[in-house]
Amino acid sequence: MTLKSVLVDRVRPVAEQPLDRAGVDRTSIGKLVRAFYAKVRNNERLGPIFAREITGDWEPHLEKMTDFWCSVILKSGDYHGRPVPAHLKLKDVTEADFDIWQHLFGQTAAELFAPETAAVFVDRAERIATSLKLAMFFRLTPASAGGSQ
Ligand code: HEM
Repeated sequence: MTLKSVLVDRVRPVAEQPLDRAGVDRTSIGKLVRAFYAKVRNNERLGPIFAREITGDWEPHLEKMTDFWCSVILKSGDYHGRPVPAHLKLKDVTEADFDIWQHLFGQTAAELFAPETAAVFVDRAERIATSLKLAMFFRLTPASAGGSQ
């Protein structure tokens, strides 16, 4: 067993099946995405980070994120991007910013979906956030790799 395989197992989504629940479709997921990024843009910490990256029309980002969440939740296969490089280039983002992101996401999901469904979105978001944080903030040092100093 390698360290890499342990990390991959830790972040692999548990549910590989599409979520089949009434009211969970591209339309409702699109509403979630729009309501969530409205909160993000109003947030004093996250708003400026996004404003620096998305300087023009927000519509392409909102459509891309709707594709992303439809792929994650409905297994639609609509999203073909690469989230890790997109976040690695954001040098001013901290782990605490992820807490804000996750709080706003959980709040939005709870406003728009039944509690059991919101919990599925939150669980997926947490797993993906963990994997992004590993890519952004985890640095293998000789000591943590078990090697000699
Ligand atoms: C503090 C936390 C986060 C910040 C500041 C952040 C910020 C950003 C920014 C600025 C972009 C680029 C927007 C664009 O040019 O289209 C982006 C893209 C994206 N983000 Fe995040 N993000 C965060 C957390 C997350 C999390 C937790 C997820 C998933 C659950 C996520 C999923 C994505 C995806 C799928 C993209 C599109 C990547 C691509 O294909 O280009 N982000 N994010």
